[in-house]
Amino acid sequence: MLEKRKIEKRRKDEDLFKVVDSTLDPKTYVNLENIASRLDIETYLGSISSGKEAKIYPARTYDGKYYAVKIYYVSTASHKRAVERYTLGDQRFEKIKISNTRQLIYTWARKEFKNLKRMHEAGVRVPEPIYVYENILVMQFIGENGVRAPLLKELPDEEIDNNLYSDIISQLQLMVNKAKLVHGDLSEYNIMVYDGVYIIDVSQSVPIDHENAMDFLIRDINNVNRFFESKGLSIIDTEEILKTLEIPNREE
Ligand SMILES: Nc1ncnc2c1ncn2[C@@H]1O[C@H](COP(=O)(O)OP(=O)(O)OP(=O)(O)O)[C@@H](O)[C@H]1O
Ligand SMILES: [Mg+2]
Repeated sequence: MLEKRKIEKRRKDEDLFKVVDSTLDPKTYVNLENIASRLDIETYLGSISSGKEAKIYPARTYDGKYYAVKIYYVSTASHKRAVERYTLGDQRFEKIKISNTRQLIYTWARKEFKNLKRMHEAGVRVPEPIYVYENILVMQFIGENGVRAPLLKELPDEEIDNNLYSDIISQLQLMVNKAKLVHGDLSEYNIMVYDGVYIIDVSQSVPIDHENAMDFLIRDINNVNRFFESKGLSIIDTEEILKTLEIPNREE
């Protein structure tokens, strides 16, 4: 009986990781197992994206719900540099004593979680953050049955219109005026379209009083404008959009 249960358990563990690739380190595997029990996850499915800093996996729960699981790579030099650049000058993170790269990555994951939370609470359409542990962030899955929604970049031209543009500008206004955050990497690659837009990838987002906030904000708006302009749509000038945003100590 005991033997049978063990075999059943083992079979279950194999199922849990069936399609997760072997590039993940052992510690990450253990963490994924713990997260699975905590969140009732039955299976982690194959990665849907390998970006510069992380991989994203859909996870299916026993009752058929999906989560998006973002697993940050634990060590790359460029990652380390980026973390240093963005967390310095961000008062919320200055107190954290960063001892090694792993800790930097954990800080990065926690930062994305906190930024998502702050935006979500302010009513910005971002994936709802569910859980963060070390280099793993669990959030609402944007898409259907484990199939992710398209990025703005991937949307067919006929679906790109002024409503979408206004939606994005509204999200930007909520982000700055309510959440008091600047995205810092906003573009057609970090906007998903699923019954309206979802803003994603907010690990680098900074408070509006951050020393680089204004530069990031202008770049974000320019990126969005450039994309919609390239589709032949009318846009609002960056200067006009800036006037609708509440930015501290802005020199006119
Ligand atoms: N909540 C989510 N639900 C579904 N898919 C998601 C979700 N978050 C991210 N993705 C998918 O995973 C991709 C990578 O996510 P994200 O941009 O957060 O990571 P990244 O490592 O910064 O990637 P990149 O370097 O490509 O920007 C997205 O382009 C999107 O296709
Ligand atoms: Mg991205």
